[in-house]
Amino acid sequence: MKISPVARLLFQSCVVAGLMLGGTAATFAQTKGSASHSSDPWWKHAVIYEIYPRSFQDSNGDGTGDLNGITQRLGYLHELGVDTIWIAPMFPSPQVDFGYDISDYEAVDPQYGTMADMDKLIAEAKKHDIRVMLDMVLNHSSDKHKWFEESKSSKTNPKRDWYVWKDGVGPNKMDPPNNWQSIFGHSAWKYDETTKQFYYHKFYAEQPDLNWRNPEVEKAIFSMLRFWLDKGVAGFRLDAIPTLFEAEDMKDEVVMKDANGQSSKNAFGDVVLDDAQTSGRPEVQDVLRRMRKLVDSYPGNRVLVGETYVANIGDLDKLYGGDKHDVLHMPMDFKVGMLNHLDAAGFRKNVTEAETMLGTNHPLFVFDNHDNARMDRYCKAEATDTGKDATPEECVAIQKMLSTLLFTSKATALMYYGDEIGMATTPPARKEDVKDPIGILGWPKEKGRDGDRTPMQWTAGKDAGFSTADSTWLPIPPSYTTVNVESEKGKADSLLTWYTELTALRKKNAAVHGGAMTMLDTTNPKVLSYTRKGADGKGIVVALNFSNEPQTIKLDVGKVSTLMTDSAELKNVSTGMITLPAYGSWVGEDR
Ligand code: NOJ
Repeated sequence: MKISPVARLLFQSCVVAGLMLGGTAATFAQTKGSASHSSDPWWKHAVIYEIYPRSFQDSNGDGTGDLNGITQRLGYLHELGVDTIWIAPMFPSPQVDFGYDISDYEAVDPQYGTMADMDKLIAEAKKHDIRVMLDMVLNHSSDKHKWFEESKSSKTNPKRDWYVWKDGVGPNKMDPPNNWQSIFGHSAWKYDETTKQFYYHKFYAEQPDLNWRNPEVEKAIFSMLRFWLDKGVAGFRLDAIPTLFEAEDMKDEVVMKDANGQSSKNAFGDVVLDDAQTSGRPEVQDVLRRMRKLVDSYPGNRVLVGETYVANIGDLDKLYGGDKHDVLHMPMDFKVGMLNHLDAAGFRKNVTEAETMLGTNHPLFVFDNHDNARMDRYCKAEATDTGKDATPEECVAIQKMLSTLLFTSKATALMYYGDEIGMATTPPARKEDVKDPIGILGWPKEKGRDGDRTPMQWTAGKDAGFSTADSTWLPIPPSYTTVNVESEKGKADSLLTWYTELTALRKKNAAVHGGAMTMLDTTNPKVLSYTRKGADGKGIVVALNFSNEPQTIKLDVGKVSTLMTDSAELKNVSTGMITLPAYGSWVGEDR
């Protein structure tokens, strides 16, 4: 269980293509309890928490999470140290792709609540010093959106050109226009009987791509963004943003070949193609520059975060607009968090790149989300240094180690609901239980993303405290009896306590907040260690053991004392000579 096939597909193609987010219109005050160490915009130091609304908290007992459920849990999030929530799409949707198929951008899906519930959530979040970031799906709409219904009605409809339509080829013009593939399997073209043309869909056929070459599309979308910005959202996470444009020549994608000239097939049985024609087109940045201007015209440092699977740090820098800083505020860096192997040297290299090769652009690290296996993937045989599954105790230590890296780096930290308690990826055991359509199409190689989206585990009681329904939209994983908020809260050695201490350290400690990072012991293959220091030379030292054996290290630091550790032996440390237990974490103060 490594990276999910969906993310893998996105990643893979980017490597070949070289491709390449206040309160109502008010500036949000400094988050309570946070240190005002700099004049940086808030998002540079945010702890962003992704909420999959179907799965966080069900307030009305129908088995599916909702907005009022999120509002009920704001106190919890505040205590955890979260200052921004990113809510996966909660707009009206046929739910083919569980909300990533939007049928109305300016409303709330009734199963999640009402617009009044949304307004209340934004207002209550503000009282808890939490900003609300929305998930905007701009590459495509639902095929049930009125725009598409109009577009497909006739070739002469004024909205015809809002989507990507093309004649078929072959004797009866019944073959797709080219070899482009959907990320979710098979041809990216669907024949529509009414007008006898094909339309393009990078994702499901129920998600037709909007035609961003048509200025009316941009006008409509920008007006919709203003609608939400006026409501006081802190910004947007832009879904699949590199895929906004397709090459005008519509030439075939190139078949990818390995070193021996062999092509390969993906989990859906399709030949693996490059995606240079359909992702990372230069026009994407032009639209994003205009979108940035719009967002920057609002007070309170609204932010644009991008879902940006790219091949390398150079390509990521382009999505910031390089030295001009005029494209996205923070394209997501998946390279660090999705290394998917407990490899100290690999993390050192990727973190160093993000720290040093983006100029003054600010990194955003992502370790997991609703498309990818949870953090426990790092405990599986494919990821560990031993080639064996880690024990449950080791798995907790591994998650403490990775979260320490996430929260003590300069990067803005993005976490996924349930990370803080160590929820495990729980894929369906039988094809008939799968909800995510790609899991049905790709079974058993691709089991879909249900396993990453199971309900939040609050208690050891009915439905894990998520709901009161007799059945929930996805089953509650069996681990809920021990892995849940109630049982971990206030417990000294729990993952939840560890996360809470990390977010507090990040806010209170000036060096963690803004200090420069220097890697230590740079050739050590097992231990990742570094300092974060402010201009006064004071700061923290971090040492993380990526191996399952104790490691003794001698760090080139002066007098130190322990700030955080999961090892009883390391509670009283005074020099840089320390022995970390297997998968142990230590954070010290450099005096
Ligand atoms: C990326 C989203 O994260 C994923 O969940 C969705 O299926 C695709 N984009 C299509 O919107």
